[in-house]
Amino acid sequence: MTNRNTEAPSRIKTGANQQRAPLFDAVREHIETQVVPFHVPAHKHGQGIPEMRDFIGEKALLMDLNSMYDIDDLSNPISVIDEAQHLAAEAFGAEHAYYLINGTTSGIHTMMLSALRQGDRIIMPRNAHKSAFSGLILSGAVPIYAQVEMNGELGIATATSYESILQCFHRAPQTTALFLINPSYYGICGELRRIVELAREWEASVLVDEAHGGHMYFHDELPMTAMEAGADMAAISTHKTCGSLTQSSILLYNSKTIARHKVSNTLNMMRSTSASYLLMTSIDLARKQMATRGKDLLEQTLHLARFARDAINQIEGLHSFGPELIDGRTVFNFDETKLNVHVRRLGLTGFEMERRLRQEYNIQVELSDLNNIMAMVTIGDTQDSIQRLIDALKSIANKCRIQKFRKVTLMPEMPETIVIPRDAFYSHKKSVPLEKAVNEISGEMVMSYPPGIPVICPGERITRDIVDYIHILKEHNSHLQGAADPFVDHIQVLGF
Ligand SMILES: Cc1ncc(COP(=O)(O)O)c(C=O)c1O
Repeated sequence: MTNRNTEAPSRIKTGANQQRAPLFDAVREHIETQVVPFHVPAHKHGQGIPEMRDFIGEKALLMDLNSMYDIDDLSNPISVIDEAQHLAAEAFGAEHAYYLINGTTSGIHTMMLSALRQGDRIIMPRNAHKSAFSGLILSGAVPIYAQVEMNGELGIATATSYESILQCFHRAPQTTALFLINPSYYGICGELRRIVELAREWEASVLVDEAHGGHMYFHDELPMTAMEAGADMAAISTHKTCGSLTQSSILLYNSKTIARHKVSNTLNMMRSTSASYLLMTSIDLARKQMATRGKDLLEQTLHLARFARDAINQIEGLHSFGPELIDGRTVFNFDETKLNVHVRRLGLTGFEMERRLRQEYNIQVELSDLNNIMAMVTIGDTQDSIQRLIDALKSIANKCRIQKFRKVTLMPEMPETIVIPRDAFYSHKKSVPLEKAVNEISGEMVMSYPPGIPVICPGERITRDIVDYIHILKEHNSHLQGAADPFVDHIQVLGF
C-alpha cells in the first residue's frame, strides 16, 4: 500500500511569491541601516556579550532584535510578519498561519484554549504529548480517552482507530473537540480524513498535533496532512522537520467554528511579547525553502531513509519497521523519514542502543524506548551520515548474541481517571515513596522524555503496573520528567 493516492492532484502549492522571504529581507535591510540601538536586547548587536559574539558570529547577534516599525511586531502583525504568515498559510494550504516562538507546545495550548471552555469535553488518545495534558490543566476541559492500539511485537502504541473514536462520541455525544496526533513520534498515522469527517458529523472541532509532520506538506509520497484532511487547526514544529531553528513552529488555522480573533487573543496570552527574530526569520526561510525546493529535498530524504531502512533490515537481529505496519484497519499511513529500529533481538534495550551509538560511535539518535530507537532522517542528511549510522548499527549487532526470544516490555494499561487534570493539579498533595503509591491518585505527570507520553497524569489512579513500569524505566536510566522528585523515588499524590 502506498502512502497516498498518486492519482490525486498534488496538494503542494508553490506560487511564484513563495520565492520571497519578506521578514528575512526586512531584518537584513534593518541591519544594513546601521541604526544606533537604544532598545532591548541589552547586548546591543553583540557589543555587550563579546564571548558569545566571538563564538556565534556578529551576524547572529545583529539579527537578535526586538519588534519595531520596520520589522513589524508578532503580537499585532501588520506588515512584513503579516506577509510572511500569509505566505506560510499559502504554502501549508491553510486559511491563516501563526508564527510560534514557544514551540508547538504553545500551539497545542492555544488550540485547546481557543476551542474549549472549562468543563467541555475533548476526545483524545492517551498517548498524546505532555503539552496536550498541560492543555487540559490550563483549559479545565474533560478528557475522553480513545483507546490506542498497541503493537505487542514492537512494544509501541500505533494509532487510534475510527471505531474507537466513534465509541467515544457515543459515550460523550456533547463533545466539543477531537484531538489527534499526525504522525506519531514513530511516524504512524491513523485514518485521518474519515476520522475528521466523523468529528464533523458530531459537530466537534478537530485539533491536530502535527509536531512531527510539518515536512509532510511538501511531498506527495508522505502521509496526508491535517489541513488536507479538513482539520480546524494543526500545530507543526517547523524546527523538527522543516529546517527552522529550535523552538520555532507554526499554528495552522482553517476553522469555520473557532473564531480567528479568539485564536489570536489566546496566542497573545500564551507567548512572549519579545518574539525572537532569529526564530521568526528562520521560519520565513524554512517556509521559502520548503515551498520552492521541498519536493526535491524530500525526494532525496526519502531516498536516504529507504536506503537506510533496507540496509538495516539486512543486519541480523535488527528490524527497521515502517510502511508494512499499514494494515488498513488502524494504521493508514507511515512517514518513512522516521527510521525506527527494533533492537530487542540483540538483547539490548533501545536506551542501551542509544548510549552505545553515542559513546562508541558519536552518533546521537532522536529517541529511544525500552524496545526501539528512532533516528530522524531529514533534509540535512547526506549519504555519508546515513552510512555512518548503518555501519555503527552493523558493528554493534556483530558484537551481540542474537536472542531467540525477545522480551518486549509494554506500557501499562490506560489508568483510570478519577479527578480531571485541572482539579487534580489544584488539589492538596503530599509526597509518598513510589512503592507506597499504589491505589493513590496521582498529583503529577511522570514521563520518559522523549517521547514525552505520560505514564501517569494528574488525577489518574496509580496501579501496581504503573509503579513497576516506572521502576523499569529508572533501572534503564530513562530520562524521566514531570515529577517534583527528579529521581522519582517519591511521587506527589492527592491528599493532606
Ligand atoms: C508529539 C509531540 N507533540 C508536541 C511536541 C511539542 O513540540 P515543541 O517541542 O515544538 O514544543 C512534541 C515535542 O517533542 C511532540 O513530540
